[in-house]
Amino acid sequence: MLFYAIRGAITADENTPQQILDNTRILLEEIISRNTIEFSEIVSIIFTGTGDLDSIYPAVAARELGMVDVPLFCCQEMYVKGSLEKCIRVMMHIQSAQSRSIEHVYLKKAKALRPDLTKNQIAKMISDQQLTVAIDGPAGAGKSTIAKALSSKLGIVYLDTGAMYRAVAYKMLNANIDFLNTQEIISALSSTELEIKFDGDKQIIILDGQDVTNKIRSPEVSKGASRVGVIPEVRIKLAKIQRDISKSKSLVMDGRDIGTHVLPDATFKFFLTASLDERARRRWEELRIKGYKESIEVVKKDIETRDTTDKSRDFAPLAASEDAIIIDTTCKSIEKVLAEMLGHIESYFINSQEG
Ligand code: DC
Repeated sequence: MLFYAIRGAITADENTPQQILDNTRILLEEIISRNTIEFSEIVSIIFTGTGDLDSIYPAVAARELGMVDVPLFCCQEMYVKGSLEKCIRVMMHIQSAQSRSIEHVYLKKAKALRPDLTKNQIAKMISDQQLTVAIDGPAGAGKSTIAKALSSKLGIVYLDTGAMYRAVAYKMLNANIDFLNTQEIISALSSTELEIKFDGDKQIIILDGQDVTNKIRSPEVSKGASRVGVIPEVRIKLAKIQRDISKSKSLVMDGRDIGTHVLPDATFKFFLTASLDERARRRWEELRIKGYKESIEVVKKDIETRDTTDKSRDFAPLAASEDAIIIDTTCKSIEKVLAEMLGHIESYFINSQEG
């Protein structure tokens, strides 16, 4: 059985029993619906209310919602300078037979964690320790968009490992090397210099002394990247560069084998998925904006082929690590996925601070 702690907060307009009851009910219902929780999965709930509220009513609201057997605990929150007024906070513990993603819920004026636990505090905690976030998943699952947004929220570097496989494929294409000719690829690889530079939040790929960052996004390079990725020698060389970069800085790294192979001890592992149709639509949009004219059917076929190649290779295939948090991004906005991931990261820091 797995255990999770879900946090939530809401504010009331006045210190009246009705306001406290109504707002607590809204908060509990929202936590339950966003996380699809059955009452039988709830282990316990802790409520706190700021000192300007009567604190017995949140527990009453839970009982009124039908949580008759759930152990509840309700107390007054310690005063924190500058914190929200009339705020009800919840920590719901749930048990689950399967691994699941959780979403913390902040409503009304409670848009974020307490001021002593906000981004700056988390950024400070991050600066105190090495943090690695691995994001894996198939093409079009939203990895790079989410990884970029997450790294910027956390104030750490984003490393797009797909770009490195693309650079290798670009070199082979330019040298007219057949992607089936493994020996020639390995031999060209031995004289390949690949360097990654960071210019603010932009990643620059230097291949044999040349900036190829803007030349590696064509459909031919995409297909080639998946095919050179099958070759263990290519993966070993690129994984070494990726690990070396992760040793000196906190980062978000996205790819296919980051949680399973490159960074098995990553602080966080996420695996993003989405339906094939949605992934094809996203990639098609991306290509269209860049001026490529592939039909959506062709893009879908290419993605399917890459999925098969990426999943079925012998060495470090595309797979979710057993300890990864799996998030299906189909029909979810970037903001929603990001909020889910930040929820996990924030809980980790809060728990490690409280512990
Ligand atoms: O994420 P992307 O579309 O830029 O990746 C291009 C290809 O590179 C992908 O189909 C498989 C390969 N790749 C890989 O094998 N391992 C990685 N860590 C990243 C990408």
